[in-house]
Amino acid sequence: MAGYPNETVKSIMERRSVRKYKDKQITAQELDWIVNCGLSAPSAINKQNWHFTVIQNADLIEWMNAKIKENMPPDAVARYKSRQDDRDDFSAFYGAPTVVLVSGEDGDAYTDANCGYAVENMCLAAQSLGVSSIIIGMARLIFVTADADAYAKEFGVPDGYKPLYAVCFGYGDMIPVAPERLEGRVNYIREK
Ligand SMILES: Cc1cc2nc3c(=O)[nH]c(=O)nc-3n(C[C@H](O)[C@H](O)[C@H](O)COP(=O)(O)O)c2cc1C
Repeated sequence: MAGYPNETVKSIMERRSVRKYKDKQITAQELDWIVNCGLSAPSAINKQNWHFTVIQNADLIEWMNAKIKENMPPDAVARYKSRQDDRDDFSAFYGAPTVVLVSGEDGDAYTDANCGYAVENMCLAAQSLGVSSIIIGMARLIFVTADADAYAKEFGVPDGYKPLYAVCFGYGDMIPVAPERLEGRVNYIREK
């Protein structure tokens, strides 16, 4: 824990987006803790207006990847490929064995924030357990065609909810580099 005041700060500081995963599923216990930490996130007026679809089915993850690719703008395709050594068979889910689709209540001003807190809780829980993660905003591209409602139903998304993020979990197969943090994003106002 060198350099960090406690394990929580260590997990926060060392969490990174991981874009390559081993072909090995996380344990049921790890998954339970990750999901429960997501469900323990704060939410405005305690609405808990999120829904998680836990996907541990490689065929379905591949189908989701194919849908994303169908609906991706060309510049995004290039960006994804470059992150995966320019491979043509790049995956928007980077080979992760577990993907959690996070949906939120439509029409509530705090839905996006509430779901974001749940997502980050899951990523930090994963980090503390030795499980890697990455948030996939591109997952929204699965649900942009006329079939969106039918697909959402198949995923078990409740009526009145919309899919917002996918989060990948698995054992990382790369050493992620910490992206540089931008300067000037904080100011302080103190007693004179
Ligand atoms: C809302 C959101 C959506 C994201 N969507 C994607 C995505 O679709 N694909 C991807 O490779 N990374 C995605 N990321 C990961 C970011 O690129 C990453 O968090 C950022 O580069 C900082 O790196 P770090 O997570 O290692 O600190 C997303 C992150 C957030 C917060």
